Amino acid sequence: MSRIGIVAAMHQELAAVLERMPDEQRLVVAGRDFWVGHWHDRDVVAVLSRVGKVAAATTATVLIERFGVGQIVFTGAAGGLAEQVRVGDVVVADGFVQHDMDASPLFPRFEVPLYGRARFGTDRTLSQRLASAAQAVLSNARQTLGADAVAEFDLHGPRVHSGLIISGDRFVATTLESVALRQALPEALAVEMEGAAVAQVCHDFGVPFAALRTISDRADDVAHIDFMRFIDQVASRYSAAILESYFSPL
Ligand code: ADE
Repeated sequence: MSRIGIVAAMHQELAAVLERMPDEQRLVVAGRDFWVGHWHDRDVVAVLSRVGKVAAATTATVLIERFGVGQIVFTGAAGGLAEQVRVGDVVVADGFVQHDMDASPLFPRFEVPLYGRARFGTDRTLSQRLASAAQAVLSNARQTLGADAVAEFDLHGPRVHSGLIISGDRFVATTLESVALRQALPEALAVEMEGAAVAQVCHDFGVPFAALRTISDRADDVAHIDFMRFIDQVASRYSAAILESYFSPL
């Protein structure tokens, strides 16, 4: 079975992953720590992408070229855009678009020049497995997070969604901008800052890619409130539990 790259966007999420890799060894490439080891019997390399599309593209390229991974799974948080996507839900991406790509009038808005497309898809089989793992974890959120976190963040009946995630080099924290994004890209379920870059690199190298994002905010005027606490108490715990289920022996 091929080696799996796990990319986390936040430090707390990577810590939760590393707790489950007892034999991990650190290798530094391009100023980043790559943790090589095993999760159950799977050969895994875990790494923190840092924030933004360029950082994510560098990370994905090193994973593929230097560490020879045969698939990449990305875990992180995102802002909810579509009406039905609430804080505490999980979105599994079926594709990505860069919402800040605009080479018009030379190319249509959002299209990545010379690729003839705006949207980069994820691997269907891996994404389905990730969505099933997320469903199993969210149906028992209280057990994963504890009653206090469920009450603090008012997480009742969290849901798993599959669909389009959009990425750009901006933390979306105004209602004005999130409304504009929803108008421009009505299919988009959530917004974050890395996924579309990793999807494009994986497309270039022919490496299967899947991504999961826990919704930490609604990308509106209150988006910054308690973000770090949410990552700590909810997103990183969901990620670890979902990946645990994803990696459990088949
Ligand atoms: N990641 C989590 N929330 C986000 C937001 N509102 N905008 C961009 N990236 C995010």
